Amino acid sequence: LDKKIRINIIPTQSLITDDLSLKGKNIVIVDILRTSSTILTSLVNGAREVIPSENINTAVRIAKGAGKNALLCGERDGKLVKGFNLGNSPLEYSREMVNDKTLIFATTNGTLSIHKSRFAKNCIIGSYLNFSSTVNFLKTLNEDFTIICAGKLGNFCLEDFIFAGSLISELYKLFPHSKYIISDSEIMALNLTSNLVYDNGNLISAKIKDMYLLSEHGKYLQTLGFESDLNFCSQVDLFNHVPVLRKGIIKFIEDFEQDMLLKQNLKKIKIDSGKHN
Ligand code: MLT
Repeated sequence: LDKKIRINIIPTQSLITDDLSLKGKNIVIVDILRTSSTILTSLVNGAREVIPSENINTAVRIAKGAGKNALLCGERDGKLVKGFNLGNSPLEYSREMVNDKTLIFATTNGTLSIHKSRFAKNCIIGSYLNFSSTVNFLKTLNEDFTIICAGKLGNFCLEDFIFAGSLISELYKLFPHSKYIISDSEIMALNLTSNLVYDNGNLISAKIKDMYLLSEHGKYLQTLGFESDLNFCSQVDLFNHVPVLRKGIIKFIEDFEQDMLLKQNLKKIKIDSGKHN
């Protein structure tokens, strides 16, 4: 209980100029409008895996080698990319569309942030849709962690920063504040978040939606006709899974564990059958 945890917010991915600076760190990727929310939704609806790509060209190259079951997904300027199968609206990622598919994803700030975190010890994807699961992961981890806000085109954005503040706010409810070492950015996020999305210590979806409508990207998505995405992404704890990046692939933690068990069992079978021969 005495162990001190340092929380660090990186307010926009463009501040990461050397990807190796994230080596060995615990990272939470935050791009709530909309990459984090979309990746989570696609996995809930049965996507086999998500492969995040740093840009469009790399995504196209990966897709060529990925076979028939692969879909090219993502956006530029919030819109579907020419030749891609799906855009970046979580509402497109229905079970009929993505079940059992490998999704190769390229989004402007979101998947770029994930790509930059490929050397991390743990890299998880957080959003309001899996808020409590994200908090629980960090609570159980009980180690220093860094929250990377994807931001908007290299700049700061309100919604990711507020979400980062919400995470800290929730941990502050669970443990004495003295457990955490925070400094200027984290103090600012914590104070802003209580102002914008909390009421009497409770996170409120309607306030999250209002905060989206204050933000540049929220307003922009609204002009593109994506207001339903703002509603969808303002839901708290719709899902209780945590997507995690391992060796360039995103799946739910429990699915990676299942894969490992399967591999171990196959090894056992091989060894056992070897004995009989
Ligand atoms: C991004 O990666 O920049 C965003 O997810 C953009 C979007 O809302 O589609």
